Amino acid sequence: MGSPIVLGIESSCDETGAGLVQGGRLLGHAVASSMAEHARFGGVVPEIASRAHLHALRPVVRQALDEAGLTLSDIGAVAVTTGPGLSGALQVGLAGAKGIAYALDVPLYGVHHLAGHVAADTLTHGPLPDPCVVLIVSGGHTSLLLVRDLARDPILHLGDTLDDAAGECFDKVARVFGLPYPGGPAVDRAAREGDPRAVPFPRPLTGSRDEPYAFSFSGLKAAAARWAEGHTDGKLPVADGAASLQEAVADVLTRKAVAACAEYGVGTLVVVGGVAANSRVRSLAEERCRAAGIELRVPPLRLCTDNGAMIAAVGDFLVRAGAEPAPLDVSIDPSAPL
Ligand code: KG4
Ligand code: ZN
Repeated sequence: MGSPIVLGIESSCDETGAGLVQGGRLLGHAVASSMAEHARFGGVVPEIASRAHLHALRPVVRQALDEAGLTLSDIGAVAVTTGPGLSGALQVGLAGAKGIAYALDVPLYGVHHLAGHVAADTLTHGPLPDPCVVLIVSGGHTSLLLVRDLARDPILHLGDTLDDAAGECFDKVARVFGLPYPGGPAVDRAAREGDPRAVPFPRPLTGSRDEPYAFSFSGLKAAAARWAEGHTDGKLPVADGAASLQEAVADVLTRKAVAACAEYGVGTLVVVGGVAANSRVRSLAEERCRAAGIELRVPPLRLCTDNGAMIAAVGDFLVRAGAEPAPLDVSIDPSAPL
């Protein structure tokens, strides 16, 4: 008999995801997003997110099963994000996962959201080489990690953001530039028509000896806001601002990630999280990895942003590694460290 089919459930922020993985293979997955409902508030509203998860969870699990040609009774284990994330949102996913695990009498596994992002890449590119450096860049996180065996070894944090996450910086500056929410994709689109050298935005902490792999984006965000506010004639060159901002973020992220690979003698860099969708982050990472002889792995866009397949992928590792399942009274850990 092969390993069991693992259902993964993700509900830490505004995406409700369900995915099915068996023996490292993605069988099916589905995602529903409440992003549009948050748009007029300019950011995720926790209460709205929780209610949306409540509505979406069952249909999303159904859709993932349909895509895989499976039924509920085929599920042999359930994995669910327990943190970090929004408490109410996490509660909905965990309650749903517990219900399914209890009803089917199958083991339940609590999964760290960031471990999920790391594992997303394995669904398209196979097992992660040991060791590898992983850059997680999303709306909530910017972390540089040294990863060995996901199921067994703790992930080593090389550096994190000291303030805003890179995605948050994109989202907030986009607002100042008058671009729609979510700001990241809007900045990416606007940047196509702009000159990345138009505005010399700072590259925070790139020269730091004490914090070689730490990030800081609040100063860059403030610089972009000051630049925008300086254009009082109503003729803000948004495309140039967007291209220059994107260049600064991509430069900082890829410079530090490639330097970490060199220092730790690592031959593979994995870039995951919503910001890995950014076209300049991708192209600059490709350029710099090629120059340094590093293999670059970036999962496809649909697996880069929050989804249930990545949580199922971690559950699948845990099952196959013989890890202890979580008790059915396991709680959420909204501010979980990695
Ligand atoms: O991983 P994700 O879906 O959710 C978490 O934050 O966990 O990432 C969402 C973030 C948002 O800040 C969004 O603006 C950003 O990823 N993002 C992008 C792009 N697509 C999504 N940022 C820059 N360029 C993009 N193309
Ligand atoms: Zn995420």
